[in-house]
Amino acid sequence: MKILHTVSELRGWSRAARQEGKLVGLVPTMGALHAGHASLIRAAAERCDAVAVTIFVNPTQFGPNEDYARYPRTFEADCALAEAEGADVVFAPAVEEIYPEGATTFVEVEGLSDRLDGQSRPGHFRGVATVVTKLFVAAEADLAFFGQKDAAQVAVLRRMVRDLRLGTEIVVCPIVREADGLALSSRNVYLNAEQRRQALALSRAIGAVESLVGHGRRDREELFEAARAVLGAERGLRVDYIALVDWATLQPVETAAPGTLFAVAAWVGETRLIDNAILA
Ligand code: PAF
Repeated sequence: MKILHTVSELRGWSRAARQEGKLVGLVPTMGALHAGHASLIRAAAERCDAVAVTIFVNPTQFGPNEDYARYPRTFEADCALAEAEGADVVFAPAVEEIYPEGATTFVEVEGLSDRLDGQSRPGHFRGVATVVTKLFVAAEADLAFFGQKDAAQVAVLRRMVRDLRLGTEIVVCPIVREADGLALSSRNVYLNAEQRRQALALSRAIGAVESLVGHGRRDREELFEAARAVLGAERGLRVDYIALVDWATLQPVETAAPGTLFAVAAWVGETRLIDNAILA
């Protein structure tokens, strides 16, 4: 597996692969890879002939008081995992390669970027949309793989790809969970044992809502009440949002339909966690 550092190296690799008739897959990540990322890389390797994993902790998607500086960086282990799961190259650019000195161009997905996580984290989705556009333009991939755990991110990126006609198809892979239900996240390493236990309330809330929907209960207030009961029972957990929205527009809906996104975000200590389900 090769490690590439410049946009022109990545583009050269991708063009050569496409010239050989290969389908190119891209797995954008910020590193600190876990089994959730492994499932994305595996899916990419199954569907594509040539797979690039990008590892770049993107400064523009972090707010001034967020965890950019302390975000876990585990490059050696990430490369080993990427290779084991079938990646052909890792693209690990320096910040200046992605944001050349004086760069002033950003991508804004209006109407979606300020919803859910975008509401709590102003500027977050502008940073995500900008870096993913840059990665898509550099990699010229046929398919790009993202996790459903970042469901609002998926909505923003799908709209962006459509609006800009970027030509890279977004593939969404299911949430990967620990045996006890905790959704995998690179930020789980911040949790101590007690916080990790408290964090389980998120997946329990999701489970409670899915179970209600399974019994035909689809009213927003009833679903919110169930989620609030579970989350509220866990002291030490601070709810950021509970949302029932159309997955494409991120606009609130009153009644859950098949495909509606139910999502929660909560603070456990200093760590903000998210979880969701696409309802049946
Ligand atoms: O989901 C992530 O890890 C990041 O938001 C992404 C898509 C790699 C952009 O930095």
